[in-house]
Amino acid sequence: MRFPEYRPRRMRRTEALRSMVRETQLNVRNFILPFFCIAGKGVKNPLASMPGHFQLSPDVLIKELREPVDRGIPAIILFGIPSKKDSVGSEGYSKDGIVQRAVRQIKSAYPDLVVITDVCLCEYTDHGHCGVVMNNDVDNDSTLDLLARIALSHANSGADMVAPSDMMDGRVGAIREALDESGHESLPIMAYSAKYCSGFYGPFRDAAQSAPKFGDRRSYQMDPANSDEAIREVGMDVDEGADIIMVKPALPYLDIIWRVRNAFDLPVAAYNVSGEFSMLKAAAQNGWIDYERCMMEALISIKRAGADLIITYHALEAARLLQDNVSKRNK
Ligand code: PBG
Repeated sequence: MRFPEYRPRRMRRTEALRSMVRETQLNVRNFILPFFCIAGKGVKNPLASMPGHFQLSPDVLIKELREPVDRGIPAIILFGIPSKKDSVGSEGYSKDGIVQRAVRQIKSAYPDLVVITDVCLCEYTDHGHCGVVMNNDVDNDSTLDLLARIALSHANSGADMVAPSDMMDGRVGAIREALDESGHESLPIMAYSAKYCSGFYGPFRDAAQSAPKFGDRRSYQMDPANSDEAIREVGMDVDEGADIIMVKPALPYLDIIWRVRNAFDLPVAAYNVSGEFSMLKAAAQNGWIDYERCMMEALISIKRAGADLIITYHALEAARLLQDNVSKRNK
């Protein structure tokens, strides 16, 4: 196609023309909104680095869910901040743990909302690592048992899906087996399959109080330089029974989302993580960028790269924008 016979600008002339040939659409049904829940009543602690997000006690969380649910956001993912931590993260798999209680309350208030729970130990261990620490290292195989217990207790509390984020080898299989043996064979697993060891988790670790007390997570999370390895990681999770495969973070790893999308035929989720959110908020607060525009551009890029589902702290703001724009256009 050559100029002047073909003029790409012809189809860019008006919004009506542009929207007819737009290749990618965002939809609220693609979004999963994360929440941090904490024990207590009436608690709503603002998170300094994540404006608009809070540590919420279950009663407040129930109220905060009204708008996302009314706007059609289909799913949330829950993270818990326990009242006490220990070396084996026991509140993570206690029947009366914070996530277990929150799930029961949310499901009774919003039976149709898909409640996904993050399955990991880092929020519950006093050392902040995602597994059992032995000889200054995170021990893989003894951690699997605890992860399976966490997943099972979430399932027993009424969670609709579990999402292991620890990056231990073999955890999807271990969780699948534990669920199947207990009558939860219909409960899906969304696996954090290609989860990189990323600096972009910083704000989350403040929010969830889950930063490791010594060392880092390089011995279990993926090296940011690797791409073929992501395909192997995702392949293992698929073989072990994952129902949704995830790439995390999203924006610095759009190439990985694209490769995973093309290599596998399962639904792909991308986690637009806390640091990606905070960067836009901080730049916007300084008046350096147009927040709404950059947010929508970031989200569409994740979808365009091949993600079916986007876990994002922007979900509610993006839903408002998508819906308010539609109602404006229809006027
Ligand atoms: C915990 C977990 C982390 C995130 C989700 N689950 C942090 C980590 O691995 O340290 C990060 C999410 C975000 O930054 O928004 N296992």
